[in-house]
Amino acid sequence: MRVGLLTGGGDCPGLNAVIRAVVRKGEMGYGDEIVGFLDAWDGVIQRRTMTLDVRSLRGMLPKGGTLLGTKRGNPYDQPDGPSGVIATFEEMGLDALIVVGGNGSLSVASQLYKDFGLPIIGVPKTIDNDIVGTDTTFGFNTAVQIATDAIDRLHTTAESHDRVMVVEVMGRHSGWIATHAGIAGGATVILIPELPFDVDEVVRILQARHERGRYASIVVVAEGAEPGEGSMPGREKVYDKFGHVRLRGIAELLAPEIEARSGLETRVVLLGHVQRGGTPSAFDRVLATRYGVAAIDAVQQRAWGQMTAIRGNEVVLMPLSETAGKTRPVDLYLYRDVASVFFG
Ligand code: F6P
Repeated sequence: MRVGLLTGGGDCPGLNAVIRAVVRKGEMGYGDEIVGFLDAWDGVIQRRTMTLDVRSLRGMLPKGGTLLGTKRGNPYDQPDGPSGVIATFEEMGLDALIVVGGNGSLSVASQLYKDFGLPIIGVPKTIDNDIVGTDTTFGFNTAVQIATDAIDRLHTTAESHDRVMVVEVMGRHSGWIATHAGIAGGATVILIPELPFDVDEVVRILQARHERGRYASIVVVAEGAEPGEGSMPGREKVYDKFGHVRLRGIAELLAPEIEARSGLETRVVLLGHVQRGGTPSAFDRVLATRYGVAAIDAVQQRAWGQMTAIRGNEVVLMPLSETAGKTRPVDLYLYRDVASVFFG
C-alpha cells in the first residue's frame, strides 16, 4: 500500500517514535511505501513530501520534535482546503492517510472521513493529555517529568529566600500536567482550568502554611486556569493567526495578587515550551511505538475513521467521531481526593 503520514498541531516528544514504528512495520512487515507530508495539512495541500524509509529514520527514536515538521491550521478554514487534500490523495495514488495529532487534527481527520470517506487512521498526541477516549497520550509523561524536575529545583531556592514560587505549566483546557506535576513535586496549591480559583483561598492556604513555620511554597498553575468571578482581574484574550487563543501569562497576573494580599515575597516561573522540547521519556517512546505499530496494522485492516487509543494496558481502535470536538478534563477524583490532601 502507499500510505501518507502527517504530524499536526503542536509538536510533542514521541512523534518521531511513531513515524519510525509506522515505517518499520509498514516497510518490513507489509511491504508498504510511506510518504511523509511536511508541515501538517499545508504539506498535503501543497504536495510537499519526503520519502520515509527505515534507513532515513535511523537514530530518530530518542529525538524530540518531528522530522516532518508541524503546523497549526485547519484545511476547512481555506476555501479549497478539503478538496486540495482529496486531490493530493487521489493524484498521488495513496491508499491511506495516518494523521498523528491532537484535538484539532483528529477533528479534521474525522470530518474528512465523514465528508469524503477518506481512508484515514488517527493517532492521538499531546502533552496536555486531553484527548477523549484514550487513557493517556504520548508526550504527557515527558512533560510531567520536566515540570516535576523544575519544581524540585524551585523548592531549594524558594526555601532559601522564604518565597512563594508560582510555576505556570501547560494545559489549555485540562489540568493534567498541573495535577500530576503538582502531586509529584509536592505543590502547596494546584490551580487547574476545570475549576475557577479564588485568590483569597490561595492566600489563606499559603499564610496558614507559613504561620506553621514552613518556609516556602510552590503554587502550580495550569496556563488555562482562570480566576472565579470577582476574585481578581481576568486576562485579555490574545489569539494567534490560526484563531488559537494564547493562554500563557496567568502566573504573571496571579503572583502580584498573592504578594499584595499575603505580604509573602512571590516570584514567577513560566515553563512554557521547555515542557514540549527534547527527548521523550522511555514511557512515551514505548507508547508512541505501540501507537505507530497499531496505526499501520489498522491500515492493513482498512479500519478507516478510527484512531489508536490505550485502555488499561491494551492498545485498541476507536471511532474518530467519538473524540472529535471534545476535550478530556482532568480526573477530578485525583484532584480533589488526592492532590488537595497535600494543599497547605
Ligand atoms: O500542544 C498543546 C500545547 O502545548 C498547549 O498546552 C499550549 O497552550 C499550546 O500547545 C501552545 O501552542 P503554541 O506552540 O502554538 O504556542
